[in-house]
Parts: sequence; structure tokens; C-alpha cells
Amino acid sequence: MRSLFPHADRNDFRKDSAMTTPSLRPVALFALAALSALAAPIAPAAAQDSAPVLSPASKFSEESGEALYANVCQACHMKNGVGATGAGTYPALANNPNLAASGYPVMMVVAGHRGMPPVGKMMSDDQVATIVNYVRTHFGNNYADAVTAKDVAGARP
Ligand code: HEC
Repeated sequence: MRSLFPHADRNDFRKDSAMTTPSLRPVALFALAALSALAAPIAPAAAQDSAPVLSPASKFSEESGEALYANVCQACHMKNGVGATGAGTYPALANNPNLAASGYPVMMVVAGHRGMPPVGKMMSDDQVATIVNYVRTHFGNNYADAVTAKDVAGARP
């Protein structure tokens, strides 16, 4: 019976297969070069300020002045109420004499004005009173006459 591989025992076949084995040396050098390129310092991703977050629900769930400020007001009025100027102007709430009359910040929160959205629509009267009292007693403001939920109810548009 004839072999299925008539040339299997021929010398030139073995020689061929030896010739197709590539030398490993250049490959190894290339791999080393690639690795050292990877090890080169990678520019750190731009440090991201923690992005402001609005509560996902249609009603804000935060209860404390601190949490309400951080999650509702800070996106625009910035940390510590310093305000910002850029694509728009966000007045500073820090050291702001406009907060002396308690009805004014209540109005701003429940009714909004120009670039200031009426975020108080998504808050209970208690929450609005809490956040207004918070900004009026923080960030260098020291207005002791607290507003009540009743004051807020009366100011709603
Ligand atoms: C989407 C951005 C935005 C958010 C959120 C926001 N504000 Fe404002 N706020 C503004 C802008 C813009 C103004 C200026 C409005 C104007 O031109 O009358 C303003 C004005 C005010 C003023 C009046 C300041 C002054 O000196 O006249 C008060 C008080 C105020 N905001 C309080 C708050 C409080 C408290 C919160 C959170 C419950 C809040 N804001 C959330 C944008 C915002």
C-alpha cells in the first residue's frame, strides 16, 4: 500500500520546516521595546471635580441644609457659596447682604428668577425653610431670624 505522505521521509521536507521557524530574537527585542513604551508615564486623566448631582427624583429627598445645599444649590452657587462667572453668572451666596431680608431668598427658591430655577417647587415647605435658613447662617452670613415652613407656604407662587 502506498504511503499517504509520499514525501514524509524526504530530506528536503525537513529542511523546509526548519527554514520556516523564525528566529525569536528580533521578536523578543520588539516586545521589549513595546513594553517600555507602555511603561512610559501615562498622563493622568484630568482631575475631575466631583460633578454636581441633582437628586434623581422629581422631589428632593434631602432633609438637612447641608445635603440640600450640596445636591441642589452647589451645582450653580459652588462650594461654600462663592458663586461663579463663566457661561453664566451665579451670584455668591457667601457674605451676601441680599440675604438679610429672609423673604428674598425664600422667593428666589420657590419662584426662581431668570437663571435661578424655582427648585423649591420640588421641595416641601420644610425643606425650603431648611435650605434658606442654612444659607442665611453659613458662608459668612449670620442672619438669626429663621424662616418657618409657614413663611414658605405663604410665599409660594
Ligand atoms: C441652575 C442654577 C442654580 C441653582 C441650582 C440654584 N441657583 Fe440660586 N441663582 C442662580 C442664578 C443664575 C441666580 C441669579 C438670578 C438673577 O439673575 O436674578 C441665582 C440667585 C440666587 C439668589 C439671589 C442672590 C442675590 O444676591 O440676588 C439666592 C438667594 C439663591 N440663588 C439661592 C439659591 C439656593 C438656596 C439654591 C438651592 C436651593 C439655589 N439658589 C440653586 C442659579 C441657581
